[in-house]
Amino acid sequence: MVSLDPAQPVCVIGSGAMGAGIAQVAAVAGHRTLLFDADQDRARKAVDDIHERLRRQAEKGRMTSAEADAAGERIQVLEALADLRGQGCGLVVEAIVENVGAKQDLFADLETFVDAGCILATNTSSLSVTGIGARLSAPGRFVGMHFFNPAPLMPLVEIVSGLATDPKVTELVRATAEAWGKTPVDVRSTPGFVVNRVARPFYAEAFRLYEERAADAVTIDAVLREAGGFKMGPFELTDLIGQDVNEIVTRTVWRSFSHDPRYLPSAAQRELVEAGWLGRKTGRGFYDYSAGVSRPVVIDAEPGPRPDRILVQGDMGQLSVLLERSGVPVEHLNGDGVVVLPSGGMLTTTDGSLATARAARLGRPVVLVDYLLDPTTATRVAVAASERAPAQLLGEVTGLLHAAGVQVSVVDDAPGLVVGRTVAMLVNSAVDALWQGVAGPADIDTAMRLGTNYPVGPLEWGDRWGAATVVEFLDNLAAAYGDGRYRVCPLLRRRALSGTSLLAPI
Ligand code: NAI
Repeated sequence: MVSLDPAQPVCVIGSGAMGAGIAQVAAVAGHRTLLFDADQDRARKAVDDIHERLRRQAEKGRMTSAEADAAGERIQVLEALADLRGQGCGLVVEAIVENVGAKQDLFADLETFVDAGCILATNTSSLSVTGIGARLSAPGRFVGMHFFNPAPLMPLVEIVSGLATDPKVTELVRATAEAWGKTPVDVRSTPGFVVNRVARPFYAEAFRLYEERAADAVTIDAVLREAGGFKMGPFELTDLIGQDVNEIVTRTVWRSFSHDPRYLPSAAQRELVEAGWLGRKTGRGFYDYSAGVSRPVVIDAEPGPRPDRILVQGDMGQLSVLLERSGVPVEHLNGDGVVVLPSGGMLTTTDGSLATARAARLGRPVVLVDYLLDPTTATRVAVAASERAPAQLLGEVTGLLHAAGVQVSVVDDAPGLVVGRTVAMLVNSAVDALWQGVAGPADIDTAMRLGTNYPVGPLEWGDRWGAATVVEFLDNLAAAYGDGRYRVCPLLRRRALSGTSLLAPI
């Protein structure tokens, strides 16, 4: 597919974090790049910063000094928007304040300054591309180009088509992003596009556990990193993003989906925003970043003695890997997938229901272990005991798991524990986006791996875990809460029943 000719200039409007990054990308790709900001000083400062970043790139050997100098020289500050007339720009990318009215006013002006063939793109992260483009006289040339921060480093670009976007424009912008060294994915203009929609449960489930006092922030972060394979936990990540910025995205998606309980904002996060505890940028969020204050340490469960032997009834799934790693002698019997410990209590894997509900069914005290990304490499696992389980049982379980080389985080009896409920909801959310035609399956997984750094795309993760298991897990969570948040997407249920891969196109 043909991309924008590098001989055609590109204009970037707004020279904040995103605009400056996008201008750098376009200039490095060979375009003369015009940068405009309502605040001229900011635009000039942005150009200086880009020169500095390019110089460092050359120092690190990522480009030659001549290439860095040439890219730097291609960027120019545009003094007035009207100066766009006669420049022959092929593409204008807008990255101003996240406000529909401001963006619509800007594009109305732009339409009068650029040629008819010039593509108009917005870098909005949460507003409707269809809505921003609605007042244009030629909305077919209007499209979303959603870069991620920092734009020069993050490979993903969501190419967002509104209702009126001409498919040829989408194709050209997609090819252009590729020519600029990016990985584009095709997305329909729907709330949160792919990344900001599908990722909501990563934050929401952790915040809910925190609000329910199932565990503290540092424990939940450690479990999601060390058992779930995520690069950062949700509390440290939202402290980095800014609690206000993260909350606005959640609230926008929630409002756009008519207050769907799946996207319910967090009361704990609201309180932080009200307090002005926005994260690293204000020195305090879920964690305290003041000088001299260190991050609270994760309290690991004190392991009890390693059991001499255990009785394994039936197939233990992921848990069998940990049992093997522990080296504890095992006696096997047929059964429903439980480990019987010397005290008579039982150990099994979470299926999304309460440990106390499992104990009531089994007639014995129960400890549940959380779902893991990979039981062969996990260094931590969360466990939860049923109400009034004897301390001896938890001691046996922690002794067993410690012998397997994993740290144990004891959390309250929260249905679906920590990693399990997070991953099940990410899978459900990704399938929901697929079902509603937001993007194709490969693009959804690519977007989540590159946009959020997840260890596995959520659709592939669902296939690995098993769609039928995820459905049962979510049904149990839904029964435990009864609030509609965990309702299974009908496409996920269909795929589970038919055995079709979640990565198969619709
Ligand atoms: P920012 O606040 O750092 O920069 C915005 C810039 O636009 C400022 O320099 C401001 O002076 C300028 N500006 C405001 N109104 C203007 C107007 N009418 N005409 C010309 N210039 C104007 O914002 P940031 O973070 O760079 O975000 C810009 C856009 O990119 C927003 O739509 C945001 O949602 C989106 N976005 C932000 C991401 C992020 O992580 N910061 C990621 C992806 C998209």
